[in-house]
Amino acid sequence: MDVVVLVSGRGSNLRAICTAIDAGECDATIVGVVSDRKSAGALEFAAGRGIPTRTVALRKGDDRDSWNESLAEEVAALEPDLVVLAGFMRVLGPPLLQRFPGRIINVHPALLPSFPGHNGPQDALDGGVRISGCTVHIVDAGVDTGPILAQAPVPVLTEDTADTLHARIQVQEHQLLPRVIHQIAIGAITLDPLTRAH
Ligand code: GRF
Repeated sequence: MDVVVLVSGRGSNLRAICTAIDAGECDATIVGVVSDRKSAGALEFAAGRGIPTRTVALRKGDDRDSWNESLAEEVAALEPDLVVLAGFMRVLGPPLLQRFPGRIINVHPALLPSFPGHNGPQDALDGGVRISGCTVHIVDAGVDTGPILAQAPVPVLTEDTADTLHARIQVQEHQLLPRVIHQIAIGAITLDPLTRAH
């Protein structure tokens, strides 16, 4: 199964997917890494592994519709079976969603549907929950609203800050995301954009 990974940041989830692939635990090939930020550490890591990289930057004042079109073009040119958002910090527009219906997944640092958005760990602390975690879900037009594929719990400690909680959540993300990709690759998870996935 050919996978394109979309990133905005340092790419620890991208590394985890590569580690699982190398270990024979994730039956996928990363055919490209696409970022909205030239400076994303994930791009450097990907290039170092010989993975094709692309940047489709969205700067202040840029037309968002054209950016969405360009992003969809770049991703589609890599011909993936699956698109994985691993720390991609933008909401996807119709062009990419329509080209890959139900074939885009995202990892989020909270137990959805609680605490969607950019501040999952902080929002979980503010909400006073004792258990948070991470979620892998199918991407739809909303913000972290698509059908849930898998989740892993992480206890919230009284001394936690958003950073310490996020760091422990990431440990779980690095297990969960490659596992879900593998399950999709072997057909153990069926992606269906119209119904809850199982
Ligand atoms: C992860 O915590 C993910 O849940 C969120 O962004 C973070 C990306 O981290 N969507 P990294 O770039 O993979 O290290």
